[in-house]
Amino acid sequence: MARIHVIHENPDWLPPLTAALDQRGLPWTDWFIHEGAWDLAAPPPEGVFYNRMSASSHTRDHRYSAELTAGILAWLTRWGRIVVNGPAALDLEISKARQYAALEAAGIRTPRSIMVAGRSKIVAAAETHFPGQPVILKPNRGGKGLGVRLFHTIEGLREYVASPEYEAPVDGIQLLQQYVRAPRPVITRAEFVGRRFVYAVEVDTSEGFELCPADVCAIGEAACPVGETPGKPDHKFTVLPGIDSALRARLETFLERAQIDVAGIEFIADETGAPLVYDVNTNTNYNPDAETRANLTGTDRSGPGAIATYLGQLLAQEQRQAA
Ligand SMILES: Nc1ncnc2c1ncn2[C@@H]1O[C@H](COP(=O)(O)OP(=O)(O)O)[C@@H](O)[C@H]1O
Ligand SMILES: [Mg+2]
Repeated sequence: MARIHVIHENPDWLPPLTAALDQRGLPWTDWFIHEGAWDLAAPPPEGVFYNRMSASSHTRDHRYSAELTAGILAWLTRWGRIVVNGPAALDLEISKARQYAALEAAGIRTPRSIMVAGRSKIVAAAETHFPGQPVILKPNRGGKGLGVRLFHTIEGLREYVASPEYEAPVDGIQLLQQYVRAPRPVITRAEFVGRRFVYAVEVDTSEGFELCPADVCAIGEAACPVGETPGKPDHKFTVLPGIDSALRARLETFLERAQIDVAGIEFIADETGAPLVYDVNTNTNYNPDAETRANLTGTDRSGPGAIATYLGQLLAQEQRQAA
């Protein structure tokens, strides 16, 4: 029987989705991608495949899961399987540089970014492109805010780059990025399912960012809206009724062009209030407490509910075609 196959590398993130699939009586199979063997000459099982491979998989000792997933998605696509967040989505998930190119091509502004290869090139690049300005250093292949740092001075950056604390980016690429000073210490994350807006959350970033007195400041979990900080009250996430309609339309067009079906897209307002988009998450997670406070839990308007319903529709469509 055709099933929904969930491709991932982090079991901790699955329960909200699998509960929503079970609630709708939809059959699903867990495709945990770490080590294994795949016969590329054999047809994949029937059904719909949902790829939620994460850019941060290497931080959970799954160094090659993203690369492995790229091969699996190519195999699935070659056999004509329906893949939600297929190869094009994975390609953007693991590279902010490629995200920014695709966003800008869709008329969406991103923070000014310099791509740097080589530890010894970072300080000079900052001096050239951000003289006398604060700067963000972040890995091109990121996730969970890990390794994202703000430097107020070039001396702070130089010290960090020379220190044993320096974290080498997993794909060899760092981004030096304009520090966006938001009028309020918040970012917004807009959630999309089936390339359509579902809801947005406002995330309070004051704890991890504005209040940090240090020269070198880890942003930490500021943009990680799932239970990765267990036990913490999560009132820093608030569901918003909507976002600016022009931005929403542009983001939906971007998803269409980039062939991304499910995404959480993060943006921050600059000093003039204009939104700058800096992160596209194709393995988006949802904040359960914020959804509960907004009366979304258990409905098709919750993140997991919207995805489960969408996957169920695709499965029904696939079965109609097969019949
Ligand atoms: N250019 C920037 N200006 C100001 N804050 C930023 C900037 N880039 C990132 N941040 C802050 O750091 C957090 C993590 O950065 P992000 O680019 O989303 O990395 P990740 O892919 O690891 O989530 C953001 O949610 C935001 O709070
Ligand atoms: Mg982020």
